[in-house]
Amino acid sequence: MNKLLVSLVLSLGIAGTAHAAELGDAEAGAEKVATCSACHGADGNSVTPTFPKLAGMGQHYLFKQMLDQKEGRRVIVEMTGMLDNFDEQDLRDIAAHFASQTMALGVADPELYERGQAIYRGGDIETGLPACTGCHSPTGKGNDPAGYPRLAGQHAEYITTQLTNFREHERTNDGDSEVMRTIAGRLSTRDIEAVSNYIQGLR
Ligand code: HEC
Ligand code: HEC
Repeated sequence: MNKLLVSLVLSLGIAGTAHAAELGDAEAGAEKVATCSACHGADGNSVTPTFPKLAGMGQHYLFKQMLDQKEGRRVIVEMTGMLDNFDEQDLRDIAAHFASQTMALGVADPELYERGQAIYRGGDIETGLPACTGCHSPTGKGNDPAGYPRLAGQHAEYITTQLTNFREHERTNDGDSEVMRTIAGRLSTRDIEAVSNYIQGLR
């Protein structure tokens, strides 16, 4: 990992912890998610691979994503207007609800596995790409209080979309340090496909 990214890891970790949202009430959250299950699944595990699984994602990350959507920092066309009637406490409760569920694990395609594993675990010295393990952890469970989301088990198709969107600067809610835009900018389309596949099977 180069110096820039090492300092990013440290500063993001500290900033993320300091701004950690208060915990929500998972039971109250369960009462507020009726409209979500059509796409994200009744148990938080969506069936359609373009819709992310929310089950078992960390509550700080989920809360941040919903607030980012509500305040226009992350645009999700499919969810237009859906969070308008929720206040911040509702969003904390909803985040706590999904965080209390268990993410269903996925399977990786063996053909892309090796390249995906090499990127995830080792990065790429030639392009200055850091390993994903540094922030998202070797098992992909992430570090929620520090702001690093869980990846393990997520649909490969959804992950591919996110990495492409970060690379093309269509998703820009990764903070002033532009950590994921910088990282995705160093990934080829083929490598995005490979690492997304590896993440889907990660456990
Ligand atoms: C019509 C389908 C649909 C419905 C209904 C829906 N969502 Fe989503 N949601 C999506 C899609 C599609 C994405 C990902 C878009 C993308 O590729 O960036 C998403 C992303 C998210 C994310 C970000 C996940 C991540 O890993 O970053 C959260 C959180 C979320 N939705 C919460 C909700 C909640 C809470 C509700 C109910 C109030 C809801 N969604 C209803 C389609 C839907
Ligand atoms: C320096 C820390 C760091 C490293 C290294 C890192 N990430 Fe991230 N990643 C983040 C942060 C922080 C976010 C959350 C951004 C936000 O709040 O929206 C994130 C978000 C993501 C997301 C979006 C998840 C979702 O549910 O929408 C994906 C996908 C992702 N990273 C993949 C990777 C991959 C693949 C690698 C390795 C090539 C990697 N990351 C390396 C910090 C990092």
